[in-house]
Amino acid sequence: MTGQPRYYLTTPIYYVNDSPHIGHAYTTLACDVIARFKRLDGFDVKFLTGTDEHGQKVEKSALAAGIAPQEFTDRVSQNFRDLAAFMGYSNDDFIRTTEPRHIASCQALWRKLVEKGEITLGSYAGWYSVRDEAFWGEDELTQGPNGTKLAPTGAPVEWVEEPSYFFRLSGWQQRLLDFYEQNPDFIAPTSRRNEVISFVKGGLQDLSVSRTSFKWGVPVPDDPAHIMYVWLDALTNYITAVGYPETSGEYARYWPADLHMVGKDILRFHAVYWPAFLMAAGLEPPRRVFAHGWWTNEGQKISKSLGNVIDPIKLVEHYGLDQVRYFLLREVPFGNDGDFSHRAMINRMNGELANDFGNLAQRSLSMINKNNDAQVPAPGQFSAEDTELLAAAAGLLPKLREAIDRQMFHEGLEAVWQVVRAANGYVDRQAPWALKKTDPARMRTVLYVLADTVRQLALLLQPVMPGSTARLLDQLAVPSDRRSFAAFDQRLAAGTPLPKPEGVFPRFVETEAGGAA
Ligand code: MSP
Repeated sequence: MTGQPRYYLTTPIYYVNDSPHIGHAYTTLACDVIARFKRLDGFDVKFLTGTDEHGQKVEKSALAAGIAPQEFTDRVSQNFRDLAAFMGYSNDDFIRTTEPRHIASCQALWRKLVEKGEITLGSYAGWYSVRDEAFWGEDELTQGPNGTKLAPTGAPVEWVEEPSYFFRLSGWQQRLLDFYEQNPDFIAPTSRRNEVISFVKGGLQDLSVSRTSFKWGVPVPDDPAHIMYVWLDALTNYITAVGYPETSGEYARYWPADLHMVGKDILRFHAVYWPAFLMAAGLEPPRRVFAHGWWTNEGQKISKSLGNVIDPIKLVEHYGLDQVRYFLLREVPFGNDGDFSHRAMINRMNGELANDFGNLAQRSLSMINKNNDAQVPAPGQFSAEDTELLAAAAGLLPKLREAIDRQMFHEGLEAVWQVVRAANGYVDRQAPWALKKTDPARMRTVLYVLADTVRQLALLLQPVMPGSTARLLDQLAVPSDRRSFAAFDQRLAAGTPLPKPEGVFPRFVETEAGGAA
């Protein structure tokens, strides 16, 4: 398997101070779709997710819950594992920052940075936000209520003055700028790349990377009064999971990561601090960081205090798993902010899934079932229109590869739906039901073209809607060893018996109370 191309991608690791919500589900979903696509396309994939369990924020939440931090993190981390299973995520590993493998990895990276003269002891005096787990400059703050100060994120800040180790970030400004220039695809989308570049051009200060005022974290080697800054600890998870400090084995195979998927709020940590830490330690930076946007709920910012947090589990119970997976990646151009609304969800579900794709598959398969003895029909000569439709479907694979490599899910799905719509137009024009009497041979050709088009569409949609497409491929009797993209060109074999077709994309019927019927 050594010649197989590899692909390593990661989600952020989630803070365990909170239950999983739509934001977490979204980031991991995007990665899951890429991971599934790459596996089907012959890559050796490593897909990592996990939980970020240290730091003051988590310590405070444990305290508020009245339990010890370890017990608290065990409990909340499990919620994230449960969500991953429920959403059908295909992650290959789930890392927790409280695991011994991770603590060893952080301490090894720290030692490496000390050895290279990149970490030195000093003292910190400045503003810190526990909610953001971030230091903020005086000039970045705004006035809050009652003489308090707020971070640009709106989070309260507190004055911190304590001994601290510093990472020599100031020395990395030019090397980071050179790195961005030599690697134009490192940060996406472009607007975010420009923001990061102007932030770095504005000057970088040394970064405080340890704290002495609390205990819940990875102790600094040889100076356990200090706890590592939670972001240095958290970012290191990406190399822990490939075996660091061991640099042979998985590390040699998978590092540098091909993609760190993150939300826009945590881009700076991934695109500035992380490559600087790695380069300073003599390690390679990742290949790409993509920052996606944020969801609002019916036009409003999602927040616990507003009580409008969207629970992904409830959403799936209401609309169906594949429907939610499809909606989240189709509704909003990936990278932009987006608004969740029930109306939009129902429109996509009924319009594009039930009407466009569901009907195409259902009517093609039922006609075959009724008019061709439930067997894949034997086609005659293809007409120009037949060839055009089959070629349009075949042309989707290279388009999707390209869209997936740029994380442009909505573009990929739009391209697929252009073919779905073309296929529906084809059925209407060819009217196979009328050919039954006048030209049964032609009817068989048309039905064959339709069945093979549906096969190609279903194969390509597997990463986004694994359950529904599996059922559709079962109905087309596509054997499991013909569901990878290597078999994309292998057309259906005439004469193959087909099971009775059943619709796989139900319509959402609203009851008066607004729920599902
Ligand atoms: N623990 C850090 C990440 C460390 S990675 C080395 C963290 N965790 S988090 O749980 O607060 O956030 C995780 C992700 O959820 C972020 O990428 C964030 O952008 C995303 N989202 C949180 N709310 C969101 C929305 N409303 N919409 C979309 N994504 C959002 O940050």
